[in-house]
Amino acid sequence: MKIGRTHYAQDINETLIGQEVQVAGWVHRRRDHGGLIFVDLRDRTGLVQIVCQPDDSGFATLDRVRAEYVIQVAGRVRARPEGMANPELASGAVEIVPHEVLLLSSAKTPPFSVAEAEEVDELLRLKYRYLDLRRPSLMRNLWLRDKSLMVVREFFHEHGFLDIETPALARSTPEGARDFLVPSRLQPGHFYALPQSPQIFKQLLMVAGVDRYYQVAKAFRDEDLRADRQPEFTQIDVEMSFMDQDAILSLMEAMLHRLFAEVMDISLDPFPRMTWHQAMKAYGSDKPDLRAGPPLVNLTDVARTVDWPVLRDAEHVVGVVLPQYQPTRKELDGWAEAARQGGASGLVWIVREAGGMRSSASKWLGDQALATLANAAHVEPGDALLVVAGNGWLPYEVAGQLRLLFARHAGRVQTGWRFLWVTEFPLFEWSEEEGRLVSAHHPFTMPHPDDIEKIESDPASVRSQAYDVVLNGTELASGSLRIYQPDLQARIFQVLGLSAEEIQNKFGFLLDAFQYGAPPHGGIAFGLDRLLMLMAGADSIRDVIAFPKTARGTDPLMNAPSPVDESQLQAVHLTVKW
Ligand code: AMO
Repeated sequence: MKIGRTHYAQDINETLIGQEVQVAGWVHRRRDHGGLIFVDLRDRTGLVQIVCQPDDSGFATLDRVRAEYVIQVAGRVRARPEGMANPELASGAVEIVPHEVLLLSSAKTPPFSVAEAEEVDELLRLKYRYLDLRRPSLMRNLWLRDKSLMVVREFFHEHGFLDIETPALARSTPEGARDFLVPSRLQPGHFYALPQSPQIFKQLLMVAGVDRYYQVAKAFRDEDLRADRQPEFTQIDVEMSFMDQDAILSLMEAMLHRLFAEVMDISLDPFPRMTWHQAMKAYGSDKPDLRAGPPLVNLTDVARTVDWPVLRDAEHVVGVVLPQYQPTRKELDGWAEAARQGGASGLVWIVREAGGMRSSASKWLGDQALATLANAAHVEPGDALLVVAGNGWLPYEVAGQLRLLFARHAGRVQTGWRFLWVTEFPLFEWSEEEGRLVSAHHPFTMPHPDDIEKIESDPASVRSQAYDVVLNGTELASGSLRIYQPDLQARIFQVLGLSAEEIQNKFGFLLDAFQYGAPPHGGIAFGLDRLLMLMAGADSIRDVIAFPKTARGTDPLMNAPSPVDESQLQAVHLTVKW
């Protein structure tokens, strides 16, 4: 038999009964049943059953094979006996009776089972990633990634976008995380930075007249890692000229609609749009999870009427309604503790029963006042209400957290794909760490036209023309219209406290470019790994990346990062100090 196959496992089905086929792959499982040998052969598409009797040729070989041996089988397809079909498998109605079996590779006993869906320590999984990837759940994610990128590329190609590669050896970009540095051998003491995004390049491409750009781009950020963050991740990076915000949002939304239709067979509803301010007031979050129950209720006005300073005098009073839920004392104590940890001074709760009201504040609030609050929140008998009072955005954020805690705890998070656009993010935010205003998105973000005059006088109140795509409480994409007027850009840099020298040094080349005729432009970047994580129903973006890093930023397979030879250090003019 020559090396090769006629079919993949998933394509072996009833239509081939009686035909000769050749399949190849790994031994997923091997079972002995009173002289009969069953082998589940696995390839990247799935499994197919080989069944062999002692007098079939190939028996001796199949008798020797163990899990993860590589074999090739030529044989005839036949229907499985009555009642033996496996509806879980595409090939589950049939099996192959071999007349020739090639043993191509034997295998050591793997450190964990590929066939069993057992919990395996992540370090071990990543050290043997090539075995981990053989597991059907992960292999499926590689397929999902491929198919999704195909659809995305087709969409952009059809809409006139050019796929342009930008350098990985670059210099600091303005995304605000720490850079990964690469020392230069030819320029002693100089370093490249791996791009945190292609932001500056794509804006330069707009100045160049490319008009519509996209790229499936690697981005590098040296930041603390979480389940939805990797030091090296992939963006679907997009930039467009001569389009207003509405047109950009509509086109990007069409891309996601197409992706979900073609890959998931899901027809998405139009995405609701919400300003940042509305999202914060309604959900206490700039990435609200619309599946997690009703929005927050604003009780500030009604709280002014009650005779208890904790509520009456608070700047904002915000409620979370727990519809038809009667919490236990323990649950209420837990949420009160969560509220304190979130920075609130405490939590007021009101439980409305058929006969009346229970409350943590009944000592201070009479029945009348409790009823006033509960009615304002439309709390019905059987409902409960959690109330957070405080200043600034804090009570909204804490109430937003409680809303999520409750929905998860009570199993009230609905299923579905709840996308939304969040728009008009603040242009600046206060950085405690740096003790100054910083750009909320990045310094090239266009301010809201109605707020431009307040840039110097009241920067904290200036809205931007920046937008995010949020899906089920996760930020999937961020983008904005960009400033293309050098004088407006200079004003922004000034508010950010950058000196003329810093500006010239960091972004001089972009500002120079803008002096040669810059078109109005804007764009967005989707976090591909996050998008796929949600599409795959995975818990971590590591499950949709072939070779991810651990939470400590290491690669246990290749052992990266690693020390290097003294001579390599010398070549790049470095000495290592511990
Ligand atoms: P931003 O920094 O918001 O915007 O990044 C865009 C999207 O990338 C994803 N993302 C990440 N995914 C995995 N691991 C990470 N460490 C990580 N960091 C970010 C998120 C995020 O929404 N240049 C701008 C975009 C623009 O303005 O066009 C940018 O990079 O899903």
